[in-house]
Amino acid sequence: YVMGVDLGTGSVKVSVMDREGKIVSQESSSLSLNQAQPGYSEQNPEDWVTATTVAIVNLALKDHIDLNDIEGISYSGQMHGLVLLGSDNQVLRPAILWDDTRTTEQCKEIMDKCGDDFIKITKNRPLEGFTLPKILWVKENEPQIFKQAKTFVLPKDYLRYRMTGDLSMEYSDAAGTVLLDVVKKQWSSEICEKLGLDISICPKLVNSVDEVGTISDKYATFSGMSTKTKVFAGAADNAAGALGAGILDESKVMISTGTSGVVLKYENQTDGYQGQLHFFNHSIPNEYYSMGVTLAAGHSLKWLYQTFGNDKSFDDFVKLAAKAPVGAHGLIFTPYIVGERTPYADSKIRGSFIGVSSINTKADFVRSVMEGVIFSYADILKIYHDHGQHFDTVYSIGGGAKSPVWLQIQANVFNTKVSTLENEQEPGLGAAMIAAVGVKWFSTLSECAEKFVKKGKSYWPEPESADKYQKLYKIYSQVYAQTKEMNH
Ligand code: XUL
Repeated sequence: YVMGVDLGTGSVKVSVMDREGKIVSQESSSLSLNQAQPGYSEQNPEDWVTATTVAIVNLALKDHIDLNDIEGISYSGQMHGLVLLGSDNQVLRPAILWDDTRTTEQCKEIMDKCGDDFIKITKNRPLEGFTLPKILWVKENEPQIFKQAKTFVLPKDYLRYRMTGDLSMEYSDAAGTVLLDVVKKQWSSEICEKLGLDISICPKLVNSVDEVGTISDKYATFSGMSTKTKVFAGAADNAAGALGAGILDESKVMISTGTSGVVLKYENQTDGYQGQLHFFNHSIPNEYYSMGVTLAAGHSLKWLYQTFGNDKSFDDFVKLAAKAPVGAHGLIFTPYIVGERTPYADSKIRGSFIGVSSINTKADFVRSVMEGVIFSYADILKIYHDHGQHFDTVYSIGGGAKSPVWLQIQANVFNTKVSTLENEQEPGLGAAMIAAVGVKWFSTLSECAEKFVKKGKSYWPEPESADKYQKLYKIYSQVYAQTKEMNH
């Protein structure tokens, strides 16, 4: 067997897989968030270690898994979270997570001091969620703590350190610090210098499939795992998710609809998108992916349900969409209820319903929210089209891929084939695939994907609906500029 550990924000999920790519056992353990002030989001790194261990122990008990049979283990992790370590690798303060937005000033400072070179080197623009602005925040606001900092790592790299004793960071996550020269694959001395950071704070870099060690004696005693189990570095959750969905060549785009929505494309070019999209190292050396984010995807629908839908179950509420026509009788929704990341990078914008009519029913509102989320994905796909990129299939995954109506809306709005995958694709599957290649069940990740990634159903565009959506999308696209001033 191999084991994939997905260190998420809400929980840690551990999956055990066999050589056929079958999930033999899965167990999760939840994590809590500390949001002491608006915009703050922290976790205690020790909780990651405890929750992972609880999940591993429960999984072994529940499904009679002999942990000695785990040949290899790897990880996928929530990106960007800052774990600052002192001289004995002790944690100096709680981790500041990806969804913590206290760093607006530091993002501005980075652009003021580094200018456009920043985007040339990191291929990204500094955003509140990324790690570098968090490092600067601690330096400026907690100098006593920062003085003690010897190095920093990201969440899953810390968890791996505690299970092996090896302290390193792998490239797909290092890219999300925005302190990495993404193409040269080395820490940027230029950025460090301009921001007054000593480059020695940056940890050792490794590839996703590199073997970094085995389970340590200490962790084996603690968890019941074997010291023979080989440990491979792993990948950022988005890179691991792409791997688990088989996004390993230029023709493929993945859309993952959870609380937020991620549109992700495999890349083998290194020009990037001038910061319009995130551009990070993939889990395969010298390959890349780009991605854009709709902040409130599933969140928009859950919000509508919680506010107006409590006479039904969530599933029945979502099914109402099938009762409304394409275009929801002229009702258009923009899903900016918590701001928007791509394409606007605007945390202050808020959503709208426009075209409300006395004939609108609840079904129209459900459908327009679902359509609005897909229009926002179309905004991201437009960036690809504007850069001359073509793709023939969009792989749709996550909770949002469970609704056939929502999948058909995607095919019609994108005017592209939309396919699902048979397994519930999760980053943990990508993590297990890294371990499967690590222990040499397969020679490459692509070979592994051929066996592990199983195709599901496909949805084709319906020309008449696709036409209608094109017209509605034009109106949708104008709403941002028209409503921007309301909240600024
Ligand atoms: C990516 C991002 C999130 C986290 C979630 O830029 O911030 O997708 O990786 O875990």
